[in-house]
Amino acid sequence: MAREKCVLAYSGGMDSTISTVWIQENYNMDVVTLTVDLGAGPEIVGVKERAAQAGAIQSLVWDVRDEFVNEYVFPGLKAGAMYEGVYALSTALGRPLMAKKLVEAAREVGATAVAHGCTGKGNDQVRFDAGIMTLAAHGDPLKIVAPAREWGMTRDEEKLYAQKAGLELREVGSDQRVYSIDRNLWGQAIEGEDLEDTWEAPPEDAFSWTRQISDTPDEPIEVSIGFEKGVPVSIDGTLKSGVELIAILNDLAGEHGVGRIDHVENRLVGIKSREVYETPAAVVLNAALKALETSTMSREQQRVKDNLSAIYSDMVYDGRWFTELRTNIAAFMDSAHEFSTGDVRVRLHKGSCIVVGRRSPFSLYDFDLATYSTTDAFDHEAATGFIDIYSLAARTQSRKQTHSERR
Ligand code: ARG
Repeated sequence: MAREKCVLAYSGGMDSTISTVWIQENYNMDVVTLTVDLGAGPEIVGVKERAAQAGAIQSLVWDVRDEFVNEYVFPGLKAGAMYEGVYALSTALGRPLMAKKLVEAAREVGATAVAHGCTGKGNDQVRFDAGIMTLAAHGDPLKIVAPAREWGMTRDEEKLYAQKAGLELREVGSDQRVYSIDRNLWGQAIEGEDLEDTWEAPPEDAFSWTRQISDTPDEPIEVSIGFEKGVPVSIDGTLKSGVELIAILNDLAGEHGVGRIDHVENRLVGIKSREVYETPAAVVLNAALKALETSTMSREQQRVKDNLSAIYSDMVYDGRWFTELRTNIAAFMDSAHEFSTGDVRVRLHKGSCIVVGRRSPFSLYDFDLATYSTTDAFDHEAATGFIDIYSLAARTQSRKQTHSERR
């Protein structure tokens, strides 16, 4: 009788290659690997060969970059998704899409299980499991296997296991730091090694997308970003696909040292962890869209949006992507950005991204109202009447309840 199948989320790295063998041995299942390309992610080259070497019966490689950008990253951008104000949620936005693709692949190949490489200490296991269970709730149940959460091997035991299974491992020099890195087009998260000491500055070798300030150009550059309904569509007047635009901004901003984040973060599982991120494009695009909003949204729209942003960010972080509430908030964001169309000019220099100009055909900024010149259109007489009414309640209360002029 043919064995049951398990679709494994496969990056091509050591852990997921060991997992391929481990699932066959411990679950007696055939393994189909699924590598999803979220941009700048796993080394796609040679991934099928490595999967085959580990005994996978089939290996799928799916380019989902456009879907990632259009259905996850840009909705997140429109929602102002920034966990704890600094983390652009790159990993957190990628996981629900990976969960979705795992379920799709499982249905396609007739698998009864799916697997991912998360350990038992992080947020990603929650995002994967919750996403998979929610999406699979419709059809036949899917079992979830998480080898690294189950096997209880130390790093050295893993290496031994790999050697016994005849897997080729990339040799790493003993003096070389091996960070735990998760990356996609929207950013990379770097953990482990010396970063675990929160007092130590991150070593320069932790970074690969952003230059250190001493190596950045002395001259600033200016970039103009065009938005349509809250979605970035052009750079310096040239239309770009979302994937292209993010890649270009990662390069440009990274060259000027923009997008390094060093943060002690509250994980969902209760641990605080020191996280270092490189998210150049995300930093630039968030700053730019925020600047556009200040011109095109009313004060109340901005306030409601900010409140919902915080809720949305926590939801994305906490693995609640596939929920009605997340969809509801996304619908508000789409509606709120109806008029977020225009251009924003940013200046990149020595690690900073400063907005220096913004314009929109829908801007609520009215020069004739705002100007300090005496020929303005603002009704100064009306202001005193307004303040009279505006302060009425406070004046009444002061008269009736406050017994002296000094509080
Ligand atoms: N702390 C981030 C998050 O939970 C990133 C985790 C990425 N994983 C890693 N192995 N570096 O979204």
